[in-house]
Amino acid sequence: MSTEDDRDPLFRYDDPIFADERLLEITHLPGPDRIVGRDEQMQRVADALNPAIFGSEPAHLFIFGKTGTGKSLISRSITQRVISEGKRDGITIKYAFIDCGEQNTEAAIVKTIAQIVNEPDRSGVTIPDRGLGTGDYYKRLWQSVDHCTDVTIIILDEIDMLEDDEVLRKLSRAGENRRISSSSIGIIGISNKIDFPDHLSERVKSSLSRDELVFPPYDANQLVDILEKRRDAFHEGVLTDDVIPLTSALAAQEHGDARKAIDILRNAGRLAKKQNDAQVTEAHVRSAKEKTEADRFSELIEGSPQQAKAILYALTLLTENSSSEEFPTKIIYNQYKQVARRLDLEPLSERRVQEILQEQNFLNVIQSEREGRGRGRGAHAKHRLLENPEIVKKVLLRDSRLSVLEDTSE
Ligand SMILES: Nc1ncnc2c1ncn2[C@@H]1O[C@H](COP(=O)(O)OP(=O)(O)O)[C@@H](O)[C@H]1O
Ligand SMILES: [Mg+2]
Repeated sequence: MSTEDDRDPLFRYDDPIFADERLLEITHLPGPDRIVGRDEQMQRVADALNPAIFGSEPAHLFIFGKTGTGKSLISRSITQRVISEGKRDGITIKYAFIDCGEQNTEAAIVKTIAQIVNEPDRSGVTIPDRGLGTGDYYKRLWQSVDHCTDVTIIILDEIDMLEDDEVLRKLSRAGENRRISSSSIGIIGISNKIDFPDHLSERVKSSLSRDELVFPPYDANQLVDILEKRRDAFHEGVLTDDVIPLTSALAAQEHGDARKAIDILRNAGRLAKKQNDAQVTEAHVRSAKEKTEADRFSELIEGSPQQAKAILYALTLLTENSSSEEFPTKIIYNQYKQVARRLDLEPLSERRVQEILQEQNFLNVIQSEREGRGRGRGAHAKHRLLENPEIVKKVLLRDSRLSVLEDTSE
């Protein structure tokens, strides 16, 4: 055991603010007693997965709802509970949680599931990181599923990011098509986009029978309850009385987003710690809200190429300097050319800029409306920034390649 004296004085060993900061990490899976206001949804997910307890095939399920409504949490939590119930009766249930935003190709998804499920001693196969074609990865997946599990639950989070929905069809029909014989597979697909099924190919839409479930946003009171149940992330007495209500009210402003509420609360605590304050106050919460929004936005656009950022910057300038919110492609293009010149960038063609605007649209950074109807997707589109221009600008200027814009743009 180490004593106070032999500790390295370079570091701090006490945390005056947090008792257990991990409770506020987004990937933390809270126990059932900390989950609030989702009884009905939990029951529906449990109903879909229930057959797994007896080693039978679960119903496939699609879950829709805005960010931070508990879709990932409830899916993971109920899956865990099914797994422990199965264990009691000697039923082996395994689960694979796939973030389709990170892994969106058929081969990557199949490989990942196989790697999670497989135990080489039992299946007699290995799942190499590379070197196999998609078809071979499928074969080894079926082997692994059959030999290492009774039931495999596959959670496909952000399923609308899938490059190709063929994987859905193959996984959902594996039993029927006798790819697997002694086990079964259940799929939970999760999406922020309620119209997601419309985007599925006809082949998949018609072949994939499923239940559907919508998660509504939380109201401010529910957010208060959610945060109260994580209050023990902080030391006793550290949170002033107005912190949780204010955080909840701020997070309920656009839609009741529990992720935002938890992020703001954690950032408020970190801020207080950094400033060596003994308590978290309203002022910390307000600054934390700004930081949280900027962080989230920067996650969205971080990886975008410099040209895309220049286009976004052009739209931001227009939004700041005009009473209008929507701008036609042509106007954005003209502004973009000036920005590109200041950045010493070779300007892209108007057509390419049009395409990038549509891609940004896809990322939910801007919204593009087609004017008129029918043909010419884009050529007559108008585009609108979805985020506060001040925040967008701040985030864009964090990129050192864009920082030259800062001096003259004020
Ligand atoms: N009903 C709830 N009770 C407690 N915590 C919740 C609840 N809903 C969401 N959370 C928390 O809010 C954050 C975001 O939830 P998440 O499930 O990731 O939302 P979604 O997948 O819908 O975007 C997570 O940290 C989660 O633990
Ligand atoms: Mg999620």
